Amino acid sequence: MRHLDVSDVRVPVLGFGTWQLEGEAAYTGVRDALDLGYRHIDTAKLYGNEEEVGRAIADSGVDRDELFLTTKVWRTDATREGVHASAEASLRRLGVDHVDLLLIHWPAEEVAPVEETVAALDEVREEGRTRAIGVSNYPTDLLRRAIDVAPIVTDQVEYHPFLDQDKVAGVLREHGLFLTAYSPIAQGEVLEDETLREIGEEHGKSPVQVSLRWLLQQPGVVAIPRSSSRDHIAANLDVFDVELSDDEMERISGLARGQRLVDPGFDFEWD
Ligand SMILES: NC(=O)c1ccc[n+]([C@@H]2O[C@H](COP(=O)([O-])OP(=O)(O)OC[C@H]3O[C@@H](n4cnc5c(N)ncnc54)[C@H](OP(=O)(O)O)[C@@H]3O)[C@@H](O)[C@H]2O)c1
Repeated sequence: MRHLDVSDVRVPVLGFGTWQLEGEAAYTGVRDALDLGYRHIDTAKLYGNEEEVGRAIADSGVDRDELFLTTKVWRTDATREGVHASAEASLRRLGVDHVDLLLIHWPAEEVAPVEETVAALDEVREEGRTRAIGVSNYPTDLLRRAIDVAPIVTDQVEYHPFLDQDKVAGVLREHGLFLTAYSPIAQGEVLEDETLREIGEEHGKSPVQVSLRWLLQQPGVVAIPRSSSRDHIAANLDVFDVELSDDEMERISGLARGQRLVDPGFDFEWD
């Protein structure tokens, strides 16, 4: 597995997403992912599966030091007290004494200013309860404010061939930070795309694998696909033995059509 090194954290570039994996599906998915070689797991308080994710990690026998574990604070907990309480509750449910990355899940300026939220995340980091901190779904104006407050390492945003993230990626790159691509296979929609299918045929890969490869071939990008199928979990890891040409990379970038799949309509402006 390839890694990115940012500040003093080492992030496996491919992680396993767990949104919508509930109960035993979360347990089995994380067990399968760890068994197949994933060492980066993404969860959140909101997903309601931290107990199952924690149990799967414990039962897997994978050394805690080898694992990169992310969880997120829900936006209604964006105050200083809320961030601390949410982090402690997540650690308790996960059954670990620290996570590797703690994110604020969505902007929530009506709850607390970005500066208060990010400073509180940084206090949790200083207490050793997370190794790194970051934001999620932050457009560039809020991202720049977060960067001014504390040493965040990432912005986790929706990113796949049908949605460009040039602006967020530009700010992150300027500061040497990484972009975490969520919904990296457009929740399965990439399967229908003719260009991705054609490029995949050239390399003996599926449109899903081509999309993941396109993301991971960009500097400073990490991707966290989710699957409930062991075969798909394995296939999504099998993307390190191909190299897309510059022309193929550009053709895939050209598929962007502003298609945002996750947009709950909270009160802020996308770029
Ligand atoms: N920060 C945020 O606000 C936020 C928002 C959304 C997501 N996320 C994170 O990002 C993760 C991934 O995003 P996502 O869950 O929205 O969607 P995704 O990973 O883009 O797509 C998941 C879908 O693709 C299918 N799939 C996976 N691998 C496949 C394969 N090899 N072949 C065919 N189909 C495949 C899955 O079905 P099967 O189960 O049948 O394989 C599932 O329906 C989440 O789980 C979560 O951890 C974060």
